[in-house]
Amino acid sequence: MLEDKRILLIISGGIAAFKALDLIRQLRKRGAWVTPVLTKSAQEFVTPLSVSALSEEKAYTDLFDLTDEAEMGHIQLSRSADLVVVAPATANLMAKMAQGLADDLASTLLLATDTQVLVAPAMNVRMWQHPATQRNLQLLKDDGVAFVGPNEGDMACGEYGPGRLAEPDEIVNAIQTQLAEGPLTGRRVLVTSGPTHEPIDPVRYIANRSSGAQGTAIAKALLSLGAEVVFVTGPADEPRPDGAHVVEVQTAQEMMEAVQSVLPVDAAIFAAAVADWQVVGASDSKIKKQDGAIPSLNFAENPDILATVSQMKKGRPDLVVGFAAETDDVVENAKKKLSRKGCDWIVANDVSPETGIMGGRENAVILISDNASETWPRMGKDAVALQLAERIAIALSDAE
Ligand code: C5P
Repeated sequence: MLEDKRILLIISGGIAAFKALDLIRQLRKRGAWVTPVLTKSAQEFVTPLSVSALSEEKAYTDLFDLTDEAEMGHIQLSRSADLVVVAPATANLMAKMAQGLADDLASTLLLATDTQVLVAPAMNVRMWQHPATQRNLQLLKDDGVAFVGPNEGDMACGEYGPGRLAEPDEIVNAIQTQLAEGPLTGRRVLVTSGPTHEPIDPVRYIANRSSGAQGTAIAKALLSLGAEVVFVTGPADEPRPDGAHVVEVQTAQEMMEAVQSVLPVDAAIFAAAVADWQVVGASDSKIKKQDGAIPSLNFAENPDILATVSQMKKGRPDLVVGFAAETDDVVENAKKKLSRKGCDWIVANDVSPETGIMGGRENAVILISDNASETWPRMGKDAVALQLAERIAIALSDAE
């Protein structure tokens, strides 16, 4: 599965750097090509010579090595790989990546690359748990960077906790997952998810109920079939899907702008529970409660994101999927929605309280297209997501 895949392996400083040698050995054994890059501090732990001997390739260390620039510029080096792997990644290198710093060869390659990046962090427990590192982790995840580890255990520094580099075989598995090809490899798919919050004042808002569970499951299923996923989400509780490019928004207007900024895509799945209205003239300061005085709110309609994208004259995604959460006449209402919005499919479901679907782990959906309506059995939201992702893959290949 890794036969002839090209891995650009960035090794940063840390006692765990010695494990990179075993990682290179395991990757070579599986037929992958490894181009190693060492930061200055990594060279305190492993030598370019040993790394180069195991990988059977030149080990790169210096941004200003003119011979290398003549042979292969750093831009080309950053893009010639199928996957960029950083193992071990120190807190310092993660911070540089999160901020877009490029002051040595490793960080410059990471900023210049257009290839998927997989990071295996390794550091002291406190450094890992520090809010700054956790902030950087979140920023990198939101940029679509994938992570493996760190593991929990005894550390070289004598402490115990999360911070140990993932074992080389775990890193190899994560590399295989990243390079897995599926029916959606090469496709870019947008998923909207979660609710939107429409402010009344800085502390109050109106919103629809939405956990973000179904949208997140769809994003994960699309990723598992090899798609590049852009995940535009409102403030939902569900953890963000690993490996997706995440855009966080609050309001419907922000969601609309985020969606427009990430187009074009091959398919767009609108699973967000967007608020229909926004409050006109939301107050910048908290509205004070006064005896007997109940504030009145004026509403304006929010942009309809699904309808806008469905009706695009130029650059419309090949497939646009909307959701219809209904409590009455599910199929009839969903069919009307399909034609009113102009989307290709509607995933309809009955969210009456007695179904337990809202906020639950299961869903029972009806897939409606122009000429058909299909009732799927009740199943887990993950299973619904996978079935939908498989149908999306078929529809996109039929559209070619
Ligand atoms: O009109 P209604 O809210 O029932 O339509 C639901 C579908 O439309 C969902 O797919 C939802 O994500 C999408 N939608 C949208 N923008 C809105 C309202 C709904 O994208 N302003």
